[in-house]
Amino acid sequence: MVLYYSATGNTEYVAKRIAKRLDDECLDLLARIKANDYSELHSEKPFVICAPVYVAEMPVFMRDYLKKVPLSGTRDVYFIFTSGGYAGISGMLAKHLIRKKGMHYMGHAEFQMPRNYMASDMYPELEAEEIERRIHTSWLQIPRVAKRIREGRQLKARHIFLFEAVITVPFHPVWTRIMQPAKPFYATDKCIGCGKCEKICPLNNIRMENGKPRWEKPCAHCMACIGNCPVEAIEFGSVTQKKKKYNLKRFFRQNRMKAK
Ligand SMILES: Cc1cc2nc3c(=O)[nH]c(=O)nc-3n(C[C@H](O)[C@H](O)[C@H](O)COP(=O)(O)O)c2cc1C
Ligand code: SF4
Ligand code: SF4
Repeated sequence: MVLYYSATGNTEYVAKRIAKRLDDECLDLLARIKANDYSELHSEKPFVICAPVYVAEMPVFMRDYLKKVPLSGTRDVYFIFTSGGYAGISGMLAKHLIRKKGMHYMGHAEFQMPRNYMASDMYPELEAEEIERRIHTSWLQIPRVAKRIREGRQLKARHIFLFEAVITVPFHPVWTRIMQPAKPFYATDKCIGCGKCEKICPLNNIRMENGKPRWEKPCAHCMACIGNCPVEAIEFGSVTQKKKKYNLKRFFRQNRMKAK
């Protein structure tokens, strides 16, 4: 069974294509995460857990969910991470999590996808050609990864150095607490009150009030709300006003590309 969380479509893209090649079912964890639904997940085929990378780790809300949800049937668990190019210590933490569950960690694969983080000027926007290149390269990587999983072989990603863990473990919580406020999010006059942002927020951090969204704490800065608003009405302070609001399906539409 392939399990995934995806805020802006990158991880969904990879997860669905891996599941298709494995002839396995593919489950979006969003509804379960939102509802704190920890009912058991059962699979005879290996679990393949697909996640984006947030500040060099798997999203904390996903890690917390996976810690609690009972996984039955197979003991084998693979991970797939999509990132903007640096998956950090995601694999190391995934291994730790899975071993604590008494299951077999079968390794992880890293896919470099378009960086979806819009709420900072630290990362320049990617050109369309580069976005297209990353999607295409990932698409080429999918059959190899799926083949290894089908054959029951370990996935081998790059070596994670100890110094990366030494830096990331204390850095991650400080960064997320200080650098990821919800307050600067707002909806402009373009908002049509559809409520999609409320439905899509994994932390139930958005409430509709008088037909308009209101952001509360805490926020994972996943970019699901801002990336998926159908009329691009959401901004983060002045940082995002001139930026394209990334999500993969919109990118395909706007660039008249057909998803492979
Ligand atoms: C809060 C946040 C933090 C991120 N941190 C990293 C990171 O440390 N390294 C990286 O390469 N990409 C990082 N990214 C980019 C995403 O991992 C990448 O774009 C991912 O493919 C998004 O997946 P999705 O579209 O399925 O949500 C970050 C994105 C967000 C939203
Ligand atoms: S998704 Fe966009 S249009 Fe819909 S309620 Fe939220 S901000 Fe408004
Ligand atoms: S409010 Fe924060 S956690 Fe919720 S969808 Fe938006 S960015 Fe993600």
